[in-house]
Amino acid sequence: MTALLQLRQLRKRHGPRLVLDIDNFSLASASAYVLTGANGAGKSTLLRILAGLETAECGEIALLGQSMSLTPYPAALRAAIIYVHQHPVMFAGSVAANIGFGLKLRGNSRASRVAHTLEAMAWAGVTHLRDNLATTLSGGEKQRVALARARILKPRLLLLDEPTSNLDGSAREQVIRLIPTLLAEGSSVIMACHDRDLIALPQVQRLKLRDGRLQVHE
Ligand SMILES: Nc1ncnc2c1ncn2[C@@H]1O[C@H](COP(=O)(O)OP(=O)(O)O)[C@@H](O)[C@H]1O
Ligand SMILES: [Mg+2]
Repeated sequence: MTALLQLRQLRKRHGPRLVLDIDNFSLASASAYVLTGANGAGKSTLLRILAGLETAECGEIALLGQSMSLTPYPAALRAAIIYVHQHPVMFAGSVAANIGFGLKLRGNSRASRVAHTLEAMAWAGVTHLRDNLATTLSGGEKQRVALARARILKPRLLLLDEPTSNLDGSAREQVIRLIPTLLAEGSSVIMACHDRDLIALPQVQRLKLRDGRLQVHE
């Protein structure tokens, strides 16, 4: 089967240090991966490179078999890949406006934005917060709004950077429960985390960064 994403010879330096030195890396469609590795191992760096937020040297990258250059970051990858920060930044305005924002940028009609935003809010369990100022939400609510804001754009690949590391109790459980539904809808997910409950989700494949290399565990 054609890989969703295929990378060869990905290298990232910070000064003299080779932070990432990945020979070959392949991601399947509708699959979940956890990315572990010590603090500073380069997990965020790798996710940010895939999302076009940082540059890197890259021998080859292909999206669904289509070869492209990583620099300048291609529109096809921008449309396919979304990065969700550990502390998601909320824009000024309501929860509903935050979630619908990407569709507005893409030029969707108002009616389509309203319908998709309602559905996304219900999915994330934030319908009751729709008119609240997004900047005033709790950490768990912000994480769920950020997931809804990403999901509404139907990404092929979602990159979640420590999605639960600032959450506990039910806030954490609510986020964990959303992940399998993303896979069921055909998205792939990479979660940089050490959360045992995320690692234990069904069919999660394990990736580990160590000394800049990416190890794949079965
Ligand atoms: N802008 C930068 N300049 C220099 N070093 C950086 C920069 N950003 C990250 N690093 C270094 O790169 C390494 C990987 O960082 P990061 O990807 O944030 O690790 P992780 O997410 O696994 O904790 C760390 O050693 C970090 O200090
Ligand atoms: Mg990190």
